[in-house]
Amino acid sequence: MALVVVTRAVPGDALERLARAHDVKLWPGDEPPSADELRELVLPAAGLLCMLTDRVDAGLLDAAPGLRAIANYAIGSDNIDLAATAARGIPVGVTPDVLTDATADVAMALLLAVARRLPQASAAVRSGGWRTWSPTGWLGLELRGARLLVVGPGRIGRATADRAAAFGMEVAFAGRDDDLPSLLAHADVVSLHAPLTPQTHHLIDAGAIAAMKPGAILVNTARGGLVDQVALRRALVDGHLGGAGLDVTDPEPLAPDDPLLEAPNLLVLPHIGSATHTARRAMADLSVDNLLAALDGRPMPHPAATRARGEP
Ligand code: GLV
Ligand code: GLV
Repeated sequence: MALVVVTRAVPGDALERLARAHDVKLWPGDEPPSADELRELVLPAAGLLCMLTDRVDAGLLDAAPGLRAIANYAIGSDNIDLAATAARGIPVGVTPDVLTDATADVAMALLLAVARRLPQASAAVRSGGWRTWSPTGWLGLELRGARLLVVGPGRIGRATADRAAAFGMEVAFAGRDDDLPSLLAHADVVSLHAPLTPQTHHLIDAGAIAAMKPGAILVNTARGGLVDQVALRRALVDGHLGGAGLDVTDPEPLAPDDPLLEAPNLLVLPHIGSATHTARRAMADLSVDNLLAALDGRPMPHPAATRARGEP
């Protein structure tokens, strides 16, 4: 029996399975522990089941000398300093595959909503701005024949591409070694599916946005840090971009008075890509599988470090 700290309650019964093998200490809050609270929490822990809202850095690891396993309840691992965990020989696990479809569904939902101007159309109904059916009102992008560029051809990117193809879109992929600006120039919609790393931070900056086709739509279900939000806001306000659908922002949450939220044809969601009952239960199962294996001295079945090129 080892002490495993779990930083938020998760759906399903995976934690009961964990508790049959180990002592589980569950952070009781609906909000994440603060950095100080997290440090205090992990001090006696051998295992940690943490969320993308928890920052795991060298300082935290130094405060937890007995820590032997970290399971991140996410496909991404950018909240964890993997160099610091590797230096201490602490395995880190993630939750691949089980959230692929759920996240691709949200990418497609954002794409559809922004392409057909649903945020403004819905707002008009509520505000009384909709007075009659109009032949010229709320005209948007027809998906059949429109071009989608998937940036990051991993599992979620490919699943989004499959959905878009079913709507008749022509799909192209941009991987790490491709010439992004020339691909951006041909896309009506650009959907981001790359992990956040120092190399991909602000991948979509003012220059990349300028390379995008006038009127193009940006969709981001990966990480907010991929996009320079100041440049995005400017392009939405000056009309260079036709719209944006974001499930992720930097920071999360955005302040309610963040200037980005004033931009036209923008739909922002509270990071709900994996938020289906099925996916969130399966993420709990994979996280517990990762912890049980590592605390038992076996390799994690879903380690963060073996991520293939272009994943997730
Ligand atoms: C969600 O963003 C995840 O990385 O699982
Ligand atoms: C639209 O509602 C139509 O009938 O064309």
